[in-house]
Amino acid sequence: MKLTWFGHSCVLLSGTKKVLIDPFMEDGSILGAKPDIVAVTHGHSDHLGETVALNKKTVAITEIAKYLKTKGLLTESMNIGGTHVVDGVTFTMTQALHSTSIEEAGVGVSGGTAAGFVIHMDDVTVYHAGDTGLFSDMKLIGDLYHPDIAMLPIGGRFTMGVPEAMMAASFIGARTVIPIHYNTWNRIAADPLMFKKSLERTTDIVVKILSPGETIETGS
Ligand code: NI
Ligand code: MN
Repeated sequence: MKLTWFGHSCVLLSGTKKVLIDPFMEDGSILGAKPDIVAVTHGHSDHLGETVALNKKTVAITEIAKYLKTKGLLTESMNIGGTHVVDGVTFTMTQALHSTSIEEAGVGVSGGTAAGFVIHMDDVTVYHAGDTGLFSDMKLIGDLYHPDIAMLPIGGRFTMGVPEAMMAASFIGARTVIPIHYNTWNRIAADPLMFKKSLERTTDIVVKILSPGETIETGS
């Protein structure tokens, strides 16, 4: 399986299926992606992004799935704590400490609650935390699902910053951690190198800092 980070929270998993998580790119260029499945962590526009325009089968929490259905999309609804297999790809929806709403014509529509995903495909398990603050039940995500790779926000202000993400990484125990949701704008400025150095000095975890558009082989 291959993993591509397009910047911000937008990640493409390419294996048996192409799974695009949080399809937001500032210039909208993610519209060129041809995923089989889209997965949305929450309703904020920097995550819901181009979901409607992409018009692919979309995995999301019940409230967002209902909203997307009104836009004509094929949806696979689920909720926190649940596991659902879509076309051979296993999605588990995890909690996220964060708010959510869908912007529709300048008004906020309910988006349920914010979430994260554990996704299992081709013998690789990844955890995309979505937007979240630190919570100690991340230990359970490690104990139950044993993710090989964890994608964690480090930008601060709206999510965990570097110190919190360091603790999150040790809670989860994934061998590889990829920082996301930083430096998209000044208000979520963070130093991924500091995150990498601090975490690698104190743990066996490897931090992979990706450039937008960069693809890595996940090992399986
Ligand atoms: Ni958000
Ligand atoms: Mn966000």
